[in-house]
This record gives sequence, C-alpha cells and structure tokens, in this order.
Amino acid sequence: MKYILKKSYQLLLVAFVLLVACKQKETQPKNTEVTALVSKMTLEEKVGQMTQITLSTFYKKGVFQEEKFKKYIISNGIGSILNVNESEPLSVEEWHELITKIQDYAKETRLQIPVLYGIDAIHGATYTKEATLFPHNIGLAASRNPKLAFEIAEITAKEVRASGIRWNFDPVLGVGRQPLWPRFEETFGEDVLLVSEFGTQAIKGYEGTDLKNNKNVASCMKHFLGYSVPQSGKDRTPAYIPEIVLREIFMPPFKKAVETGCPTIMINSGSINGVPVHINKTLLTDLLKNEWGFKGLVVTDWEDIMYLYKEHNVAKDNKEAVKMAINAGIEMSMVPGKLDFYNDLIELVNEGEVSMERIDDAVSRILKVKFDLGLFDNPYPEKEAVANFGLASYKETALKTAEQSMTLLKNETINNKPVLPLNKNSKVLIAGPGANSLATLHGSWSYTWQGDREHLYAESTLTIKEAIQNKIGKENVTSIAPNKFQEITTSEIKSVTQKAKNVDCIILCLGEISYAETRGNIDDLELSKDQIELAKAAIATNKPVILVLTEGRPRIVNEFIEGIVGVLMAYRPGSEGANAIANVLFGDYNPSGKLPFSYPKYSGNLLTYDAPIRNIKTYKPQWAFGEGLSYTSFEFGEIELSSKTLNENGSLTVKVKVSNTGKMDGDLVIDLFVKDLVASIIPPMKKLRKFDRVHLKAGESKAVEFILNKDDLSFVNAYLKRVTENGEFEILIGNKAVKFNYN
Ligand code: BGC
Repeated sequence: MKYILKKSYQLLLVAFVLLVACKQKETQPKNTEVTALVSKMTLEEKVGQMTQITLSTFYKKGVFQEEKFKKYIISNGIGSILNVNESEPLSVEEWHELITKIQDYAKETRLQIPVLYGIDAIHGATYTKEATLFPHNIGLAASRNPKLAFEIAEITAKEVRASGIRWNFDPVLGVGRQPLWPRFEETFGEDVLLVSEFGTQAIKGYEGTDLKNNKNVASCMKHFLGYSVPQSGKDRTPAYIPEIVLREIFMPPFKKAVETGCPTIMINSGSINGVPVHINKTLLTDLLKNEWGFKGLVVTDWEDIMYLYKEHNVAKDNKEAVKMAINAGIEMSMVPGKLDFYNDLIELVNEGEVSMERIDDAVSRILKVKFDLGLFDNPYPEKEAVANFGLASYKETALKTAEQSMTLLKNETINNKPVLPLNKNSKVLIAGPGANSLATLHGSWSYTWQGDREHLYAESTLTIKEAIQNKIGKENVTSIAPNKFQEITTSEIKSVTQKAKNVDCIILCLGEISYAETRGNIDDLELSKDQIELAKAAIATNKPVILVLTEGRPRIVNEFIEGIVGVLMAYRPGSEGANAIANVLFGDYNPSGKLPFSYPKYSGNLLTYDAPIRNIKTYKPQWAFGEGLSYTSFEFGEIELSSKTLNENGSLTVKVKVSNTGKMDGDLVIDLFVKDLVASIIPPMKKLRKFDRVHLKAGESKAVEFILNKDDLSFVNAYLKRVTENGEFEILIGNKAVKFNYN
C-alpha cells in the first residue's frame, strides 16, 4: 500500500513537473525586469506596446506634426514606429534628430517605455542617405559564399544603428520558387539549403553576440510562411502549398532562424490553403512557439489585420479580425496609420474575448526585445556609433560581393577565342535601358521603397556605361540608353545599325526597371517587347552582342538568345554593381557565380531543379540551377568516399580534387548534389546538400572535403515525418558521380 501511495505520489509529481514545463513552453521566457514592468502596466499601456505606426502618420515631407505625435506616443503609448517618409531617405543627423524627439516623448509617458523603431534595411541601410547598398539576396546566393551575407549584415547593422535605429526587418527567408513574384530578388533563390545557410549568416551578422552593442541590430525573419509562392505570381495573393512541401521546402529556413536566435518574425500577408497566415494558430502558436520554441515577438505585415476583413473576408469587421489575429499568436500589429486596432483590442480584453494572459505574453515578448537591445539603458541614438557609418571598406565589400555574384551564362568562341573577356582596346556600343540606369542596378528598397529615384543615388555610384567608360576610355564608348524599359522608341532601335558601324562589339544592357512588391506584378515573364526588338536589331548588325542582364527575376530571353554570343547575369548588384560588371566584361575579375534558380526558357515551364524525378524529361530551362561559367577551366578528380556505407550515427567524408587547368586564377563554386535512387515517395531529380567556394591559381589543385550525415539525406515522407530511408544514393559533383549505401 505504502509502495502504491509512494508510486502515485511520484507519478503525480512527474505530471505536475511536465505540466509546468508545458505551460512555460507556451509562454515567453520569464525575465524578471520584464515581469516586473508588465505587472505595473495598465491594459491601455499594454495594448499601446502592441501597436506599431508608420512615421508618415505624423511626419510628412520633413514636417513634424507635434499634436498628432503627442497623442500617439504620450496618450496612447504606442510601442513601435516604422518606416520613413515616403519621398526621401534621411541623413544620419536627421535620423538622430527624429529618434531623439520620439524617445523624448516616450520619456513623458508614465512608465517611460522606449519606442522600438523598425526599418527595412534589406541590402544595406536602405533609408539612410549615403549608406552602402549591396547586391540583393538573389545575387548573393549565386556567390555560394554565406560569409558575404554575414559581412553585409554586419555592415548594414552598423549603418542602421549609427542612424539610431535598432530593429531591421530582414532577412527574407521565403524560398524563391515562383519567378513571377515581384519580390523574387529579395530571396536567396529556389533552393532550401541556400536560403537556410545565407539566412542564418545574415541573422548572425545583424545580431552579433550582444544586441546592446552599438554595432548590432535585432533581425526579423520574414515573411512567415509561404509568401514567396503565390499561385497567381502576384504579390500578396493566395498560396496553395501541400503540407508535405511546407515541411520540406518552406519551413526549414525559419526553423533554423529560430534555432539561431532570431528574436522577431514578420508574418506573410497572404494565405496558405485558404487560411490567412495572420490567423493561423496552428502555425503561429502550435508550430512556431510551442514546437520550435520561438521566444521572440511576432509582428504583422503592413495593415494585415485590417486586410483580414477588407480583403481576405474571413472576419466581419476589424474587431473580429483583431481577435482572430491576437488569439492566433500575433504580438504586434503594423497598423500602421489608424488606431482601430488599439481601440478594438482594449474592448476585446474587457469583454473577455482576448485573455489578459495572452496580452501579457505578447507584451512581455515585446519588452524583452527592448530590454535586450539596451533601449531601457539608453533609448537615444548613440553618438559613438556614427563612427561606424560610411567607412571606405564598405565599398570594397560591396564590390567583392557584387563580383562574386556575377554569373556568366554564355561565352561563345569566335575565331578560336572566347568572346569574353573583352579586350580593353575594344570600341563598344552600349545599348539598352540598363546602360545608364542606377535604379536597375539596385532594385527595391534602395533609398526609397521602390528604389526608382535616380537622383537619390550617391554621386560616386556609377551606371554600367560610366563604369565601362572608366575602364576603356570615353572615346571608345558610344551608347543608346533609353530611359524606360518598356518604351524604347523606333528611332532608338533603328539607331543601332548606324552606331554599331565602327565598334567591335555591342554590350546590350537589358532587364528590369526597379520595383517593389505589388508595383512589380507582371502577367508575363517575357522580356518587354521593345527590349526584344532592340536585341534583334543589335543581332542584325552582325557584330558580337554581349547581353548584360540587370533584373530581379529571370525574364525570358529565348526569342533572341541564339544570336547573342555572351551573357552575364548581374541580378541587382547594388552600388558597386557597375564596376563589378565592367571588371568581369574586361577580364579584371574572373566570374564564378552559379545560378541560384532555374532560368526558364518558356513561361509555361517553371520547374525547379529539385522537382520530382518524374519531371526529368521536361526540365528544360534556358539555364539550369547551378550553371555559371569561368574564364579559366576546372577539372574534377574522381569523388573519393571514406566508406561505401553510411550508418545512422556515422558520417561520410566526401573528397574531391579540383584543379584549375586554365591560364587564369579563379574561384570555383562547388555544388554537391545527392540523388536518392529509390524512395518511398518520388525523389527529387537531385538535391543540393553541400556547397563551397575555393580559390585556385592557374595550374593549382586542391582537395575539397564535405561531410555528409544522415540528415543530409533526409526528406519529408508521405506521413509528414522527416526520415532517411535505407538504400542507395548517388553523389554528384561537377561531372563526377559516385554511389553509396545508407543503412
Ligand atoms: C512589406 C514588408 C516590410 C513592411 C514595412 C510591407 O509592405 O511586405 O516586407 O517589412 O512593408 O515596410
């Protein structure tokens, strides 16, 4: 009896401990400062903290509307502000003035809780004048060098923090598998491993080891989940993604970011399988917070609670929308203009529709970020941080990253000589709307949201034409540089024939204008008609035509590509992009980038490289994932394995000798793919499992090693479980392949 009693007592104790553990898992980490502060707060103060407004609500065209501002900050106790005046970026000094004013007002509130200012600095400090802008993620991924993502993020953090801002809405962790989507350039491409690896490095670069340090900022992974693959290709439209694909492709980068310690997350404005993500409790609470253990704050995207009733039609009014979103797991609403959210949430709590427990959880998560960022110690811009703004070395990093991203897709041989690199004595005609445009080099989020204001770019930033003029002399360059990508006049097109007469080759600069979000929606992936006409006119001159593409997504070039002898994909290469392009074209840099996506040949064939193997005969892109040429030649030795069998707890060392057999030094990007030869669901054609980049002098060889383990062979099976199945696998590196068994 005594024994039974003792046993029951023990069982009860275990159950109690488990219950407490589960309960704790559901809520935020208990931090004494946070708990103490929350216990002093009124409901209104708590809801104020959960409200984020946009700067332009009270600051328009440089004019500050004091009364309105006082109301928001002092009366309503708004916890967070975002963005910039829509027309112009601010200088560091202007930012300091503004943030100081904001925090001064916050000091006038009862509890003096500082305001958390957030910004989109997604490839450099977007909204600060003279900040360095780097290549967009899509180009960065081509470098296969995640260290660059780290370096860029470190610099961006320094420039953002020097501006007095401590929260950055980046990195974008959507996997870019829908090339029509206008935010494709913000992604690291179509492969889940690339997105995870680059995304993690960006987070580490932003955050450093201590958010209080005046060189670091809090990162914000976004947009959770499934934003990057809208069915229609249009921004913010519904996505339909089977759960098996969500788990295989779209969740892993976010899970890894949570493990890396990213403290904030922004939600996808769209819906998955009919459910707007902002009300998806299964994703926001059960998966993200309870299963993955995310302890940070969840912020909505722009007006997204309002859209629940205005566009998604899943709520009858704002109040119902607020209730659904907060109960699903949202902590902060980017309202960003009106106070309906604030008023409705207060009412909902008073009516018992949203529990005080939920509110306390949300506020604690928000305050935790503020404490971690040192805002309670000093909410003001840190004067000493200004020394970290605009260092000359940042430009070097911008150039290095742009160069490593450059992807040479075609280089035909004419008279026994590859057409690229060009001789510096050449006379060239530079033609096309990309020739003299800074916006096309930068894309979205470049000093303005749309990145389309030429006059805002720094004096020192060069267009492709200017960079080439610097390289080979103005006298050797003629140009036809239409202003618009969509409207090239017939006379401009006709002038190609005449202007090409005395040149050795034509550098054709085509691609896309700068755009962000819905303004970049398109119905067709083809390059614009006028650009195709211009390309045809250039080809008709019979001069060698080299195509330079500056674009945020792959625009189809199939109609004329046969007549082009060289193709350089430059993506959105940023402030030093034109120099990087000129360096590659004229042989001062040996290109090494590899496509991070499949460049389609036809609008109706948008398969990714890792589509199920049954698609193997129909995967016919213009250029495949991983393509990219060099000016030198590389050879791969046979792949050597440490064993013919990999066991569950073991690892497999994969060794391959790589040699530069050409005459020029260069970097080699090595993609290691694995093929699962037989699996319980149709396996992908192949899957990128490791990648690396090595520098090889002409004539040099190096041994490169990769370690594979069970997880590198895993996939999500039909029962939605991640498994590694026994059987035969094949490793593919360059033109070499080798098989092994997993047991
Ligand atoms: C975008 C977000 C961005 C937010 C704030 C939204 O329109 O979708 O990525 O962080 O605006 O500027």
